Amino acid sequence: MAQFHSVTVTDIHKTIREAVVVTLQPDNTAAFQFVPGQYLTFKRVFDGEEIRRSYSICTAVHDRLLKVGIKRVDGGVFSSWANTDLKVGDKLEVMSPMGKFYSGDGLTDDTHLLGFAGGSGITPVLSIIRTTLAESDHARFTLVYANRNVNTIMFRDELEDLKNRFMHRLNIVHILEDESQDIDLFTGRVDAEKCSALFNHWIDLRSVSCCYICGPEPMMQAIALALEENGLQKSQIRFELFSGAQPGRAKKPVASKGGSEEGLQAQVMLNGETRSFTMKRDTSLLQASLDNTLDAPYACKAGVCSTCKAKVVEGETEMLVNHALEDYEVEAGYVLTCQCYPLSDKVVWDYDQARH
Ligand SMILES: Cc1cc2nc3c(=O)[nH]c(=O)nc-3n(C[C@H](O)[C@H](O)[C@H](O)COP(=O)(O)OP(=O)(O)OC[C@H]3O[C@@H](n4cnc5c(N)ncnc54)[C@H](O)[C@@H]3O)c2cc1C
Ligand code: FES
Repeated sequence: MAQFHSVTVTDIHKTIREAVVVTLQPDNTAAFQFVPGQYLTFKRVFDGEEIRRSYSICTAVHDRLLKVGIKRVDGGVFSSWANTDLKVGDKLEVMSPMGKFYSGDGLTDDTHLLGFAGGSGITPVLSIIRTTLAESDHARFTLVYANRNVNTIMFRDELEDLKNRFMHRLNIVHILEDESQDIDLFTGRVDAEKCSALFNHWIDLRSVSCCYICGPEPMMQAIALALEENGLQKSQIRFELFSGAQPGRAKKPVASKGGSEEGLQAQVMLNGETRSFTMKRDTSLLQASLDNTLDAPYACKAGVCSTCKAKVVEGETEMLVNHALEDYEVEAGYVLTCQCYPLSDKVVWDYDQARH
């Protein structure tokens, strides 16, 4: 099973000075069916090292276009290359869409959704906004969008167009950290205090059925806390994280449960095949798979994206970081293999069960 597919870059435009919006045409369109809020994982070799990075789709399904927005990160390998060297006509290697940011709950005439986005965190939220407004004649969306200043607002024109087209159904609040606005509340950082003020004066949380949050981790935590304090249930809050607090690349020692320190038995199911080998206790399940030339899926290697998800069907393991799986998935035995280490002397894990 080829995990990566070839796509051609058909358009690139700058949404702001530090970000590009890239339109992609897949050779195999069937492999690129998506739901709102999903992301694509790109693979490219830089200086002999294969790098994988994920970027969220910013279009809605009905747009019939595959687009991602890539904001340049200072010193960042892939995002800097995409912003300076990527050209129309280039071919890229991309995985099929993944992720489950979108709740998928049906829209009714009364649906009121809320979104909080920070910087490039707007990309998956924009896909959900477009979908909501197109799929229902009455559903409403309120977006709170945090940026440093007006020049760093990605998709500013697109958002303005949407606001003009759906005047009574789309409400956008721009919060600018470094730029004063007519209303004081709209200046500064989005923290718990600002959220509470927004909920008191601008956004009636009682009408909100679901809130989507995507942005820097501390901002996401503050917003989630404020939402809960102001009456929203945990189950009504959905997150998409772009980066973990720790890179997750280093091998981590895991407390032994009395078994041997190395040479433990591993068995992996992938693409309908079963492979057995021995592995060390301080090696993640993903790394052990890759070391044994298995083409196991991965992207961030930081417990963020869930591309490396598998089900542990035998043995005991420990997951060090989990920003992607729900509690019920962990209870059912699913793990992020990039963050998962063996505790017992035999571990069996199945990537195929995580794909169905
Ligand atoms: C599910 C998901 C969806 C995403 N969607 C989007 C999106 O829609 N748009 C978007 O713009 N981004 C998105 N991201 C983030 C994106 O995947 C990348 O993480 C981001 O573009 C940075 O990648 P990079 O290769 O440019 O930077 P990297 O090379 O990974 O560097 C990241 C940072 O680490 C620093 N760094 C790198 N190497 C070192 C080192 N050796 N020592 C110290 N510091 C170092 C860099 O200076 C930089 O600040 C998403 C991430 C995930 C997980
Ligand atoms: S590769 Fe992203 S969570 Fe494991």
